[in-house]
Amino acid sequence: MTFERLPRHVAIIMDGNGRWAQKHSLQIAMGHQAGVESLRAIIRESSDLGIHTLSLYAFSTENWRRSAAEVNALMALLLRYFSSEIDELDRKNVRIRILGDKQGLPDAQCRAVIEAEERTKNNTGLNLCIALNYGGRQEILRAAASIARRVRDGELTPEQINEDVFSAELYTAGLPDVDLLIRTSGEERLSGFLLWQCAYAEFVFPATLWPDFTLDDYHAALREYEHRDRRYGGRKT
Ligand code: FPP
Repeated sequence: MTFERLPRHVAIIMDGNGRWAQKHSLQIAMGHQAGVESLRAIIRESSDLGIHTLSLYAFSTENWRRSAAEVNALMALLLRYFSSEIDELDRKNVRIRILGDKQGLPDAQCRAVIEAEERTKNNTGLNLCIALNYGGRQEILRAAASIARRVRDGELTPEQINEDVFSAELYTAGLPDVDLLIRTSGEERLSGFLLWQCAYAEFVFPATLWPDFTLDDYHAALREYEHRDRRYGGRKT
């Protein structure tokens, strides 16, 4: 599969695990488990295609409101994912970055993700960002507070605050803005995902539920992106 123009940064809201489980009369945890299979294939393909950054929305700050059974199932999946996949990801030169408040995760999960970040920090292939305990407004507030502290401490003047300075305070510091955002399951909302970074992103909303999302669906979204006319507010000459 070749593309004339690939997005540098693809962000995915992996929606529809619950509906998939319901459709198959399965427990919700099985929907998330099936979602992990999709995620595995999409990560591998992104790495093989040479995509620079892939960001996946795995757990939002609002997801704590779900039942304890579902939260526990997701946390268990997360732990299992990191222990079973880390060798292959590292071998594929993938660099893992967690977006979100890691300290708010249970201890074992917090340790596992920090370890994965540490182990892969010098890798130079796909940047794999996994959003965990993440909220887009919270990320922006955190950046604003850090900049306010730097101004208070005399490190920075208000006039020096520009987009680059601000971007460098986000969880995605050093990574490019999102070019293509995909949300599966037919929902057409951002739900706070990478609010700042999606300012000029192209959006694609396939109807497929995340566990059914295949490489063909991924290629179709990348093809759609290839044909979009990106002007960033300018005019095509
Ligand atoms: C949305 O589907 C999906 C989530 C809230 C969790 C996504 C998590 C995974 C795919 C697996 C865990 C991640 C890793 C990195 C191992 P939903 O349950 O809101 O679906 P619904 O809208 O149909 O109910």
